[in-house]
Amino acid sequence: MKFTKLFEPITINHLTIKNRIVMPAMALVYTEDYTFSSRFKAFYRERAKGGVGLMIIGPVAIDKVGSTPFMPGLFDDKYIAPIHDFIIELHKETNAKIGIQLMQMGRYASSSYTGMTPIAPSAMPSKLTREVPLEMTIDDIEEIKEAFAQGARRAVEAGFDYVEILAGGGYLIGEFLSPVTNLRTDEYGGPIENRMRFGLEVIKKVRQVVGKDFAMGIRVSGHDFMEGGHTNIESALFCTEAEKAGVNSINVTGGWHESYIPQITTNVPPGAFLYLARGIKEKVRVPVFASNRLGDPLVAERALRSGAADMICWGRPLLADPELPNKVKKGRLDEIVSCIGCNQGCFDQLLSGFSVCCVLNPRVGREADTEIKEARVKKKVYVAGGGPAGMEFALVAKQGGHDVTLYEKEERLGGQVNLVAASPGKKEFLNVVKSLQNRMAISGVKIKSKTTLTSKMVEEGRPDVLAVASGARPIEIKVPGITQPHVVNAWDVLNDMVPDIGKQVVIVGGSATGCETALLVASLGVVSPETFTFLLYHSAEDFDRIRALLHSGGRKITVIDILERMADNVGLSTRWSLIKSLRLMGVELRPKTKLVEITRDAVIVDTELGKESIPADTVIIAVGSRSVDDLAREVNSGGTEVITIGDAKEPRKITDAIREGFDTALKL
Ligand SMILES: Cc1cc2nc3c(=O)[nH]c(=O)nc-3n(C[C@H](O)[C@H](O)[C@H](O)COP(=O)(O)OP(=O)(O)OC[C@H]3O[C@@H](n4cnc5c(N)ncnc54)[C@H](O)[C@@H]3O)c2cc1C
Ligand SMILES: Cc1cc2nc3c(=O)[nH]c(=O)nc-3n(C[C@H](O)[C@H](O)[C@H](O)COP(=O)(O)O)c2cc1C
Ligand code: SF4
Repeated sequence: MKFTKLFEPITINHLTIKNRIVMPAMALVYTEDYTFSSRFKAFYRERAKGGVGLMIIGPVAIDKVGSTPFMPGLFDDKYIAPIHDFIIELHKETNAKIGIQLMQMGRYASSSYTGMTPIAPSAMPSKLTREVPLEMTIDDIEEIKEAFAQGARRAVEAGFDYVEILAGGGYLIGEFLSPVTNLRTDEYGGPIENRMRFGLEVIKKVRQVVGKDFAMGIRVSGHDFMEGGHTNIESALFCTEAEKAGVNSINVTGGWHESYIPQITTNVPPGAFLYLARGIKEKVRVPVFASNRLGDPLVAERALRSGAADMICWGRPLLADPELPNKVKKGRLDEIVSCIGCNQGCFDQLLSGFSVCCVLNPRVGREADTEIKEARVKKKVYVAGGGPAGMEFALVAKQGGHDVTLYEKEERLGGQVNLVAASPGKKEFLNVVKSLQNRMAISGVKIKSKTTLTSKMVEEGRPDVLAVASGARPIEIKVPGITQPHVVNAWDVLNDMVPDIGKQVVIVGGSATGCETALLVASLGVVSPETFTFLLYHSAEDFDRIRALLHSGGRKITVIDILERMADNVGLSTRWSLIKSLRLMGVELRPKTKLVEITRDAVIVDTELGKESIPADTVIIAVGSRSVDDLAREVNSGGTEVITIGDAKEPRKITDAIREGFDTALKL
């Protein structure tokens, strides 16, 4: 497919943007004192150079009570000059248009960061912060409207091309809009006309300050996905009024932090929420941006061609690959580092109060210090293992000019990532392998698959450097009955090597591997999404019958773990949806349950209430992994520098494997 629509220019008010690609606001936690830190600037500079059309910097605070010091602020004139210098530089260096998102967090703000109780339309506690905000007085309302207006004025003075007001995501304006969080009885609460009043007054006030010619937009939730909250219909109604109040564009995202539907995780199908943009586009005349999981250029191009939106947002896709727009434009598709929606480096970090990084792009947040440069001394490098650690190491070493050979004992590259991708909703993890494999091939890494690297081969080949990236293997436990044929390992199940899985399955170990294996086993026998759609499309059965086919594969599955919290090693943004899926599939989760013995047809467990027998015709062991690092110990170095990386050093995550591969190769 030719990417024609993606690279068509568009004009918003008087602002002409070179293509249809928007980088939406993303909180990064790269500052501690409301300023544009050098780390923050390096991050944005790299993205502006990567070819994005409209880069929306932010969120940026309009006041202190509704923010955190970890985001830049525009609530004082003192912030204008330093930002202005940076925007001038960006305009000189690139032809990206630079926007800013103005944010007031409402009840999502936290007093632990600001020292002030957050304010909101009503005193409704927030699940995110577990705090009860103060109900805003009319004076507060006037003050915040003015703060938005002053923030916008400073943004214009700082040289931004575009101002976006955040009116969705469960933040302050969104809280006014929703009957869930707005219980007011004055002119700002009650019927929707009243609930819209605050947002519309903010828009009008900002318009007065920025002038009629300045490009100004809002970001809304296309559907709150909150029990009793706004659907796409009310959202579209607000957008029609916002257009009348003076906005020139509408950026449609998904729901709130408290939404009951996953919004941006790997299990959300690409383009799933495009229909929300369409619902709004049908009601307004100004350009509409679609958002969430549109990172695949084909999906993005199709979204634009469908007419559902005028621009598409690439948030995390530009974290993973700042050069994505340029690569797509030049047809360098094999070089793309595709975001897999895992949230591990970005959103989960943010939710835990840490700086944003990326599992696949170890340079995120370290742009200024991690450029790959040509090495002065070229070395002969062997890499043992084609998992993420070995592949990243090999790639970066080769890009640094070294002579690199990677050995992988299996036929396919990827190591454990192939197991990760086997679980339902995680297929996209295979993009990690595909992308590294493609980039290694382009850079000229020599790849020897189906070849185990031995100490003898190292001693004969005499490389200057040996990177041992041989990964991990499952831990074996000693429990009576463990050697019986119906006891299998989770890795083998994920690897499709267990043809006979019984009807009563007990999984021992409730961390990510155990829970994801449970989901895989539970999904055996349910209808596929394609079949589900087919049956529904043709009304083959009534809806409830078809839905039941999605949720039951006819097995009784129990996951036991000695610990209290299941899936504890899964990121915050993903864990709840994994647990939700397990519940939907009828999987029983039994924390604080210790395996004692496995008999021919049951597992015997110890619980707080004493010993118990759980019927089981298949027992799957998922109790963790241990490093495989024999090669590092066996090699008689004889001048070869031996580096152990990834799970071979200590079993962890892809994030650590890739970062370690990158960092060690950079130092060669
Ligand atoms: C079920 C499951 C789910 C997971 N889910 C996640 C997740 O959601 N997110 C996450 O970040 N991490 C997850 N992980 C962990 C993640 O997959 C690992 O941390 C990561 O793959 C480690 O990468 P690595 O390159 O160090 O090792 P591996 O991926 O294990 O790769 C090592 C490779 O080395 C090869 N090898 C070994 N010895 C030799 C030799 N002598 N010569 C040649 N080749 C050799 C092996 O065949 C293998 O391909 C999961 C793991 C599992 C098992
Ligand atoms: C780390 C992170 C921080 C975010 N912060 C904001 C924010 O402050 N304001 C906002 O409107 N959206 C925010 N978002 C949502 C993104 O703008 C975007 O809508 C979301 O990531 C989905 O798009 P994507 O799949 O292209 O990443 C954030 C997302 C991430 C991953
Ligand atoms: S950490 Fe995962 S979701 Fe976040 S940008 Fe990187 S690949 Fe995408």
